[in-house]
Amino acid sequence: MRFSLFLAAVACLAAAVLLQVSALGSRLLRADPDAIPATEALMAFALGRGKALFEVRCAACHGISGTGDAARGVPDLSDGDWLYGTGLVSDIEQVIRYGIRSFHPKAWNLAIMPAYGTAQPSVRDAKILPLSPGNIRDLVEFLMSQQGRAADAASTARGAEIFVGAGGCYDCHAADAKGDSAIGAPNLTDHITLYGDGGRAALWSSIAYGRHGVCPAWVAILSPAEIRETAIFVYSLSHPRSPAKAALLGVQ
Ligand code: HEC
Ligand code: HEC
Repeated sequence: MRFSLFLAAVACLAAAVLLQVSALGSRLLRADPDAIPATEALMAFALGRGKALFEVRCAACHGISGTGDAARGVPDLSDGDWLYGTGLVSDIEQVIRYGIRSFHPKAWNLAIMPAYGTAQPSVRDAKILPLSPGNIRDLVEFLMSQQGRAADAASTARGAEIFVGAGGCYDCHAADAKGDSAIGAPNLTDHITLYGDGGRAALWSSIAYGRHGVCPAWVAILSPAEIRETAIFVYSLSHPRSPAKAALLGVQ
């Protein structure tokens, strides 16, 4: 008799915990994604779950702590620098849902880095014409100088002209080479590089052979709740002052 009372109490407690979890779960889904970071209870609820999902679904490419892999063109998600959008939870959710160049019709797929060293640099835009090896060398020197590295002066001057002229680079990366996060064209003037170390060989490869990094679409694999939880975890990686992240990662 006493034992069955005990069992009933345990069952009640479990039910109460489950109810609370499902209440938080539905609050999380109903919330404006960009308001969630200000709500500590929702952050705490989502972060642990998002971290576990990230480890299973994303870490193989992005690394266990989200710092990416320059050898494979996988961006660092913890540096506060965004190829797409401005790092809002809603921006991150959009990427997770539909991916980047993932073949999903709603994926970010607005721009692809042309392969200027080939006969047809872009399959999408026939107006983009090939560049000679000399032109590409000049562009490499120009971009080295833009990053504040040592570069040949005469070559840099020629490269600057090609960038805003015949190369058409400004069209996607902007005339000041600072990129465009509405189409995922990286800033070419900072120390953050998507591919390799941003040195001459990596720049040459990007310009001559093109780039088209792919992040998969998760909309058919993860539930809306899981997508949101993962987005919250990714958001927390670049917001280290969040108390929830501090607790999670043991940061002071
Ligand atoms: C049609 C749009 C478009 C044009 C035109 C274009 N780019 Fe790009 N470029 C991109 C995109 C998009 C990426 C990122 C590709 C990715 O994420 O895989 C990129 C990436 C790069 C990178 C690699 C950056 C990094 O951080 O590793 C370099 C270097 C680069 N572009 C230089 C140039 C130069 C020089 C030109 C002109 C000759 C040019 N791009 C023209 C869209 C463009
Ligand atoms: C197969 C490798 C791979 C997997 C798995 C993967 N990604 Fe990506 N992800 C990439 C690559 C490559 C890019 C850069 C795409 C580009 O060049 O524009 C990227 C870009 C992103 C971006 C955009 C970053 C920015 O600067 O704007 C976010 C956010 C992101 N991934 C989140 C995730 C999450 C969350 C998961 C797991 C649910 C995931 N990715 C799984 C390869 C991957």
